[in-house]
Amino acid sequence: MNGNLKLALQKKGRLTEKSLELLNLCGLDIENYSERLVVSARNFPLDILFLRDDDIPEYVQDGVADIGIVGENVVYEKQTGTEILEKLGFGRCSLMFAYPEKKELKNIEDINGKTIATTYPRILKEYLKKNNLNAKVIELSGSVEIAPSLGVADLICDIVSTGNTLMMNKLKKSFKVFDSEAVLLSAEKTLKEPKLNEILNDLLRRIRSVKTAHSSKYLMMNVPKDSLERILKIIPSLKSPTVLSLAEEDMLAVHAVIPSDKFWQIINDLKKAGASGILLLPIDNLIQ
Ligand code: PRP
Ligand code: ZN
Repeated sequence: MNGNLKLALQKKGRLTEKSLELLNLCGLDIENYSERLVVSARNFPLDILFLRDDDIPEYVQDGVADIGIVGENVVYEKQTGTEILEKLGFGRCSLMFAYPEKKELKNIEDINGKTIATTYPRILKEYLKKNNLNAKVIELSGSVEIAPSLGVADLICDIVSTGNTLMMNKLKKSFKVFDSEAVLLSAEKTLKEPKLNEILNDLLRRIRSVKTAHSSKYLMMNVPKDSLERILKIIPSLKSPTVLSLAEEDMLAVHAVIPSDKFWQIINDLKKAGASGILLLPIDNLIQ
């Protein structure tokens, strides 16, 4: 025990890089992690344990790790009674039914009597029950997408992210069971050890400010003085915008933090209102 907070991460997979990127944005300097099972942050009391994603909820539940980053899909499948502290906004994917390209799945009722291969038997059985469907579930630990071509199953129920895996296996996606993204997981909302809880709260604050920063952009533009009022009405600013005077007397500079997803909707309105030299910058961090 070195007093560090222990974080479990997926050893190799869709979430690994993105998780480390998030920790970097949180200001953590992580040792070169390649091929090592445990690494520490140089400037933060955190140890990272690299594990199979399917094992993470259990390790967190048992206290091997204090917290973990894993897909909601794994959390729900394992049902360990762990707490989701924060949705992380990356690693988005869906649990979906997929069928061999040549066949058709028109209604969800067509699943009745079929054989479905999956690595998510618990979620799938629950879904079938809730929807009054009757199908045979075959549990596999991996490579589910080859089951139909091997004649082991009629269809599969698996995670789809880009859809490449399905395409390569001549499968097409059908009905969706649920959407998932990466989450931060803990055995309970508040860790028992006060020191560890302090570290966790520090990390959570950082993660939240990185999340806000990434969904925001810094907008800078020049506006004619007499359009200022109209322009300010267009900007859905997070805080009140900064208005600065310019050498040119009839012009002003306006700076504001705006939600990134709204930008393209308002840019035309801003131009129409006379804004020029519009600059949009990424924000690394936004401490609130
Ligand atoms: C899922 C799924 C596919 C792949 C789909 O695996 O089992 O193999 O992702 O992604 P794509 O649509 O982008 O091709 P997961 O990331 O959960 O890894 P694991 O099964 O090895 O744990
Ligand atoms: Zn997995």
